[in-house]
Amino acid sequence: MRGRPAMLLLVAAALFAGGAAPPPAMPHPAPNARAADNTACEGCHVEIAAEWRQSLHRSAFTDATFQRAFAIDPDPFCRDCHAAESDPKLGVACVTCHVTNADVLAMPGERRAPHPLTRSPEFATEAACARCHEFDFPDAHLRKAPLAMQRTLSEHRHPGAARETCASCHMTKRGGHADHRFAASRDDAFVKSAVSVRAKRSSATTIEVSLAPARIGHAFPTGDLFRRVRISAAGSNRYLARHFGSRQEIPGVFVRSEIGDDRVLGGERVVVMTVPPDKTRVRVVYERAEAPSDPAFSSARVAGAIDLFDAEL
Ligand code: HEC
Ligand code: HEC
Ligand code: HEC
Ligand code: HEC
Ligand code: HEC
Repeated sequence: MRGRPAMLLLVAAALFAGGAAPPPAMPHPAPNARAADNTACEGCHVEIAAEWRQSLHRSAFTDATFQRAFAIDPDPFCRDCHAAESDPKLGVACVTCHVTNADVLAMPGERRAPHPLTRSPEFATEAACARCHEFDFPDAHLRKAPLAMQRTLSEHRHPGAARETCASCHMTKRGGHADHRFAASRDDAFVKSAVSVRAKRSSATTIEVSLAPARIGHAFPTGDLFRRVRISAAGSNRYLARHFGSRQEIPGVFVRSEIGDDRVLGGERVVVMTVPPDKTRVRVVYERAEAPSDPAFSSARVAGAIDLFDAEL
């Protein structure tokens, strides 16, 4: 932490001007609404800024996976969350989460700061994440009912999901402050901590694979619609995922439609597969798939994978 009084004055003038504060809005998609200088936050909160620079929040727009998807579907709506500030390179910035309609939003606490703070108990809950981590496809007018593109918050409310807040798992304390790296899908150990996987031969020609939720606060996997778990044995694959097809909900208009969801949520998921009687390699892999060109999911490019289980049975 370094003091920067001159910079603070600039920030104060830009951010904290205004009259009586309305109740603080929680962080939300708001493309280019706040031109505030993020550099000032980074200049004082040096360690948190270093963490944030490694995070997918920072690279939400520049990240290669996002760019490939955006090239297929360059809908301006994507920018609401992935390029929330006037400089898209900032992705989801300090100011996106901390400067909504309030002074700097913070969770309850006693520490004094050289700038005004709006301390809100709500900011210390999943409300701080809700409006970006749960949202519908933008084509609701082409459907009978809107379809969730992501629904991590609804999953979080499932009675079988861990009751802790998002931050208690995703922003654990590091160097005395809440970790701002938000590591998840690229962190092998963290992904492995989500489920416990067992597999056994249930008969001469079948194997039984079971995935039980461990420390996880939503479905496994969650988030982006093409995340999946691949179970493979004897040359065939089973995918645990949200499954999509193409359907007409309004006559003449085909839309992507959800036809099934067999991810792990709230209880054990058991999959039985037929295999030859001789030794068979069984693998369970978490995959970050990208938009598949066939509804069966097999043609999708896999941008990243983490082994959860690999053994001969
Ligand atoms: C002049 C330096 C300076 C600038 C600029 C600055 N901060 Fe701070 N901020 C501090 C100090 C010092 C504290 C006291 C607590 C601490 O050390 O973290 C603080 C406290 C906070 C807290 C509350 C921590 C708690 O106790 O709960 C938050 C959140 C915060 N700042 C975010 C920001 C954001 C976001 C920006 C940019 C909009 C920003 N700050 C700009 C120096 C600064
Ligand atoms: C302004 C919108 C916004 C808010 C608010 C927000 N996020 Fe995100 N978050 C994103 C976007 C966009 C990405 C995806 C970045 C990418 O990979 O392109 C993301 C990525 C993540 C990731 C990394 C996922 C992965 O695949 O590894 C985690 C973890 C995460 N967010 C947790 C949180 C938590 C916890 C909160 C609340 C404290 C929160 N986010 C608030 C927009 C937001
Ligand atoms: C995705 C939303 C998000 C982004 C981006 C983000 N923060 Fe935070 N920040 C939070 C939340 C939520 C908390 C409260 C965490 C908790 O409940 O422990 C927090 C906590 C803090 C704290 C208090 C930490 C502590 O434990 O004392 C500071 C200071 C802070 N943020 C500064 C920043 C700065 C500076 C940046 C940019 C470099 C930034 N934040 C980016 C959501 C965000
Ligand atoms: C009890 C701990 C826990 C809680 C609570 C929790 N998560 Fe997670 N989260 C995890 C673990 C472990 C992973 C890694 C496994 C995975 O990738 O699904 C993860 C992964 C993610 C991912 C990456 C997507 C994926 O599946 O690859 C996102 C995004 C995310 N969490 C957001 C959230 C949000 C938003 C909340 C609050 C609504 C939340 N998490 C609550 C433990 C938790
Ligand atoms: C309301 C906020 C929001 C909107 C709008 C949005 N996204 Fe996202 N996006 C997220 C969040 C949150 C994540 C993180 C989930 C995860 O990592 O699994 C994410 C993750 C992704 C990922 C995975 C990135 C990675 O690095 O693994 C891709 C690809 C993506 N979004 C593409 C898009 C496209 C294309 C659009 C527009 C059609 C879009 N998103 C619109 C919030 C949003």
